Amino acid sequence: MEVMARPWSLLLSFALALVAVSVAQAAVVEHTFNVGNMSISRLCKPEKIITAVNGQLPGPTIFASEGDTVVVHMVNESPYNMTIHWHGIFQRGTQWADGPAMVTQCPVQPGGNYTYRFNVTGQEGTLWWHAHNSLHRATVYGALIIKPRGGVAAYPFTKPDEEEVVILGEWWNADVDELHVNATKTGQPAPHADNYTINGKPGASSGCADPNQTHKFELKQNKTYMLRIINAGLNTPLFFKIANHSFNVVAADACYTKPYTSDIVVVSPGQTVDALLIPDADITSISGGRYYMAVIPYNSAVNALNASDLYSLSTGSAIIEYTGGSSTSPPMLPQLPEYNDTATAHRFLSSMTALVPNKVPLNVTTQMFVTVSMGDTFCEPDQNTTCLPDDKGTIFASSMNNASFILPKTTSMLEAMYRKNATGVYTRDFPDTPPIVFDYTADASELNATLKHTFKSTKVRTLKYNETVQMVLQNTRLVSKESHPMHLHGFNFFVLAQDFGNYNETTDPAKFNLVDPQERNTVAVPTGGWAVIRFIADNPGMWFMHCHFDSHLDFGLGMVFEVEDGPTPETKLPPPPSDLPQC
Ligand code: C2O
Repeated sequence: MEVMARPWSLLLSFALALVAVSVAQAAVVEHTFNVGNMSISRLCKPEKIITAVNGQLPGPTIFASEGDTVVVHMVNESPYNMTIHWHGIFQRGTQWADGPAMVTQCPVQPGGNYTYRFNVTGQEGTLWWHAHNSLHRATVYGALIIKPRGGVAAYPFTKPDEEEVVILGEWWNADVDELHVNATKTGQPAPHADNYTINGKPGASSGCADPNQTHKFELKQNKTYMLRIINAGLNTPLFFKIANHSFNVVAADACYTKPYTSDIVVVSPGQTVDALLIPDADITSISGGRYYMAVIPYNSAVNALNASDLYSLSTGSAIIEYTGGSSTSPPMLPQLPEYNDTATAHRFLSSMTALVPNKVPLNVTTQMFVTVSMGDTFCEPDQNTTCLPDDKGTIFASSMNNASFILPKTTSMLEAMYRKNATGVYTRDFPDTPPIVFDYTADASELNATLKHTFKSTKVRTLKYNETVQMVLQNTRLVSKESHPMHLHGFNFFVLAQDFGNYNETTDPAKFNLVDPQERNTVAVPTGGWAVIRFIADNPGMWFMHCHFDSHLDFGLGMVFEVEDGPTPETKLPPPPSDLPQC
């Protein structure tokens, strides 16, 4: 007996030690998100009801370490159908937790709940979460921070003393769900937000002097701060500045970049930027250590409309205050660029490169050339009761390769894929090239009006497991030219090149960076220009790719990749969780 007990107890303590080690390495980060009504006043207006998580705007920040499991129990106490998407998370093996309504799940109905469970493995940096149904992400959003497993010491740049989440957003006085319903009825996108916000607050530059409406950052002189900047706005690329300070950019979309010094940050909806900031100004100076942090829209649109039709020409601001600063004089405002300063936006967005050389796949197996357009469509018979066309019988629509994406109504696409029954849910004919070749970026007035006509459909591009996809995203100018922030779920991609005008397949490949291209989940395709991205489809599932302007997504600017199962059990789509919401 004695002889047997010894190895057994040894084995047991060894096993226990193993469990302890793995617990220390990979924790479970658990949250409950009650999505419900919140009463709030902004811009000095009377209180109104918005939809928010746990009564907070922005919602709670999730902090995790690389390798952890995140579990979020979402309880829908709101009167709306709701889902939450974990923007930038790969969802390997947890495809049912990705969140876009009708793509990977039916929405959670009022009174229902769903547990999102996923790993944050092989990625670290600043990501975020947001509602993925109607326009609810205007108020249902928050940060998702993944720290390196080795903690702050493992950052591949100057160790920051402190970190600050800086979420940029849009504030709408109107009810956003009503805007969505009206927009889909009339084909008129909602005009624009009423102001921009920093950590949920518009700041005094909005004209509302209430100090509770301005976020304040208290910073210690000469310490190093890491700002985790997220553009959670619905429709607006933003210029971000702090008076009298500059930044050292070290990451974008949770991918490390070569340190890049800039006095301005440009961030399009869906994108994130991590930037180091050292408050090194003289506190005895005239401004006494008080500065404004400010955001204004980058209006990339060039068309017949005035900028003010698309963007609120207001400034969102927060205050930076040095600890021990003496001044009580008004903070200094940064000098902001012109709203349409495309040169500044392009310089920032195209200058970033990966911190270390990337493993860019060289053997492309699927080539796609995809136009990104705004145009129009005819009212469909099944929309007749809700569709209010203009005098030409058309309503606004947006498209990729002239296919204007519409979500299925009865079954989510991932369920249809899993049950091997796409009939009535989606078709596998998303084209690899546009139906007509034309001068994509010629002045709208020179283009034949029929080129703008598009049709509603739910088309996917089916990919074999491990396919290497190269996609040229070509903006068009059928209605206006604009910089569309194109976001891919389930993957990061390499941005090989980007430029203005029409992509030239003979000469432009010479511009590809195949060594250290930036890796992102959202690329702001230059206005009237193109971007080339590449990724390996090694994650089976249904992955939405779409413009991160909700005003364009709502009108069809999207498509879906259906990635087939791989050869091993771990590379197959798992069965749906038992609490997956039903339609
Ligand atoms: Cu951040 Cu499909 O979205």
